[in-house]
Amino acid sequence: MLSQQAGDSGRRASLHGNWSSRMAFILAVTGSAVGLGNIWKFPYIAGANGGGAFVIVYLFCVFLIGMPVMMSEILIGRRGRRNPIATMALLGEEEGSSRQWQWVGVLGVLGGILILSYYSVIAGWTLAYVERSITGQFTGASAAEIGALFAEFTGDWKQVALAHTVFMALATLVVARGVERGLEQAVRFMVPALLVLMLALLGYAISTGSFGRGVAFLIEPNFAALTWDGVLVAMGQAFFTLSIGMGAVMAYGAYLPEETSIMHASAAVVIADTGIAVLAGMVIFPIVFANGLDPASGPGLVFETLPLAFGQMSGGVVFATIFFILLVFAAWTSSLGLMEPAVAWLIEHRNRTRRQAAVMVGMLIWIIGFGTVLSFNELEGFRFLRGTIYDNVDYLTSNVMLPLGGVFISIFAAWVMCRNSTADELGGAGNAYRAWRFLARFVAPIAILFVFFQAVGVI
Ligand code: TRP
Repeated sequence: MLSQQAGDSGRRASLHGNWSSRMAFILAVTGSAVGLGNIWKFPYIAGANGGGAFVIVYLFCVFLIGMPVMMSEILIGRRGRRNPIATMALLGEEEGSSRQWQWVGVLGVLGGILILSYYSVIAGWTLAYVERSITGQFTGASAAEIGALFAEFTGDWKQVALAHTVFMALATLVVARGVERGLEQAVRFMVPALLVLMLALLGYAISTGSFGRGVAFLIEPNFAALTWDGVLVAMGQAFFTLSIGMGAVMAYGAYLPEETSIMHASAAVVIADTGIAVLAGMVIFPIVFANGLDPASGPGLVFETLPLAFGQMSGGVVFATIFFILLVFAAWTSSLGLMEPAVAWLIEHRNRTRRQAAVMVGMLIWIIGFGTVLSFNELEGFRFLRGTIYDNVDYLTSNVMLPLGGVFISIFAAWVMCRNSTADELGGAGNAYRAWRFLARFVAPIAILFVFFQAVGVI
């Protein structure tokens, strides 16, 4: 597994072992991409930003910015074969620029830590909802009762903290087990199972009688409702949901065998991820409208709509339990990618074993997570800049750090790296390569910076 030889083309080998197959890599990246971002975050921010127009901007960002950035990130990762910080330093030097590119890696390592600090708290909510599902607490409940259940739970910091703790322990456990035994096994069945269950829920959504309204909300563009800040949020979501901009897919790319096509793998991941997000929207919004709920109600949206649906359908206890378990798995496989850059760095540069590194990173994230734990109860009234501590950590990571990381990553891949290196990684200089290079050179960096400065009001 730990082959130290360089590949045929003189490329180097990874220090952490490799994915056992092409499919394993696609599954791992899909596992990191498909997560709470698709099922919890996408519906609630689409709802809060008026629906249709937001979704269109989001889709544009996914395909014109997200996809080329993802390809850039994977190719950098495979070229460098190290943790994101070392990879950026090494390639910066090798491509005749500077080792200072390592700061892009540092930004990513910090971004992953910050994202997971709140991601784990929300994942904890889904864990708690597994218990509520099994014990049948949604059965026959009204919208008001479900809402009260959610408010009561998130209002009790001890319960939220406990769930966050359990989730961080689970994440740390799998990261500690290493690339092949840990990460790969966890993602194998989760995505297909989630897809099947979402399709079943779609059947329910169609039966609510508000399916048309729900879908109209998702696709009818009302650009008047969309601010530049909303555009930035849509772009941030494109980064967040694809797990790009912070070195996670760079770290995964470091374990990617030479022969795998980065273009095909990226396309597969982007399509699967987008499909699941859109499906989630088509399930959530009909339920929202059928029950007179508010699509803009915020982070609780999924926890207040889906239990309602489960409570009304026959076999709802079983479906709810399976659904929330799958959501835990989806969050779990995503959390691994968020920890991996920091863990790989500690292993390579601080001489830690994988187990030690995972525990250290896990503990740090666990502590920072208390900022989010308390944002929904004790410190709910403590607001600055964008709102609660959670709101700020979310905004800073998704809408500032990830897009900024994306700018640097695409500029590095498309301007700093020489044509030979990138063409070599992307499998030749055909039309697809030219399209990537154009998007990564011009479209992605310019669009990201433009939206960013529009939203923060500099331009
Ligand atoms: N993509 C994940 C989701 O949608 C969350 C995420 C953001 C992520 N950045 C990441 C996961 C980096 C892994 C690595 O839920």
